[in-house]
Amino acid sequence: MIKMRDIIREGNHTLRAEAKPVKFPLSEADQKLARNMMEYLENSQDPELVKKYGLRAGVGLAAPQVDVSEQMAAVLVPSENEDDEPVFKDVIINPVIISHSVQPGALTEGEGCLSVDRDISGYVIRHDRITLRYYNMAGEQKKIRLKNYPAIVCQHEIDHLHGILFYDHINEANPFAADDDLVLIS
Ligand code: CO
Repeated sequence: MIKMRDIIREGNHTLRAEAKPVKFPLSEADQKLARNMMEYLENSQDPELVKKYGLRAGVGLAAPQVDVSEQMAAVLVPSENEDDEPVFKDVIINPVIISHSVQPGALTEGEGCLSVDRDISGYVIRHDRITLRYYNMAGEQKKIRLKNYPAIVCQHEIDHLHGILFYDHINEANPFAADDDLVLIS
């Protein structure tokens, strides 16, 4: 299983590299990686396992964060009511944002990252709504529309596949600068 020590931190060059597209059918190694990344997210959302293994909670984990420079990321956005199905749960492979709203969106509380061991405040300006095309582990092409929080999470993860970290999107001079049309997501 993936633990915090397996997750590389900012400063490691893999986090700034352009990841390679993944080939289908998935190799054994890629299948295992995909399963392990999703397992990390599941474990990290279980308070007992968080304590037991010293995990940091996460809703997304990209392959470059475990030092594999491939275009693959696990996303697990839980529902507010834990008995309900997750809002979004899949391993997104070779994902592409094929269209997006002009309207920007950002999390009110800013963002964090399992590869960044410090708090960096400010609005991480992204698109409020996206249409995402990706392949799942079975090699099926998916096209989905996401808005608000799950859209932000997917954009954060897709950035990892292109060497971008969340704070690259923060306005350095004025971290809480917001255009009138910015959707603030709590
Ligand atoms: Co991250």
